[in-house]
Amino acid sequence: MTIDHVVPVRARWLAEELLADLPQRRAHSAGVAGRAAELSAAVSRVDRDLLLCAAWLHDVGYAAAALDTGFHPLDGARLLRRLGWPPRLCALVAHHSGAAFLAQAQGVPGLAEFPDEASAVTDALASADQTAGVCGEPVFLEERLTEALGRHGASSAYGQAHLRRAPYLRAAAARVQSRLLTLAVA
Ligand SMILES: [Fe+2]
Repeated sequence: MTIDHVVPVRARWLAEELLADLPQRRAHSAGVAGRAAELSAAVSRVDRDLLLCAAWLHDVGYAAAALDTGFHPLDGARLLRRLGWPPRLCALVAHHSGAAFLAQAQGVPGLAEFPDEASAVTDALASADQTAGVCGEPVFLEERLTEALGRHGASSAYGQAHLRRAPYLRAAAARVQSRLLTLAVA
């Protein structure tokens, strides 16, 4: 079975089902979906439902049903592929929020199964994820980066990835803001 149309309410139901045992992660995903809706004008109209679906589903790799490599962006993308979600949605989940930097630092192979489209949707998804806190509350990007670095530790693989991932996330957020400002003055 393949899912031909990306329908946000279907993504929401699936995220809520898969993350039922992880209420904090579920609340975070709802927060990211809310932020994605706020930022959706930064992507083309035809991609807005895709962005919302990716926001709801980006962290389903934490679900027990997804457990494979232990690297949640890849596990989530593989689960969604098995469930028949479109390749573009799966790839956005695989590469969300600079996952390639973390995969490299942690020595996780497999991410190349999914292309990184490096698009306006990629940027908006990263920006939404990085401005929703662990319980979905709104946070500033720098707050989120500082909190995550503190939680993992500077000497961890996360800390190593942070050196290249943080500038990438700041650049993505700046591109989103620039797209929104361009619209505002148009
Ligand atoms: Fe997230």
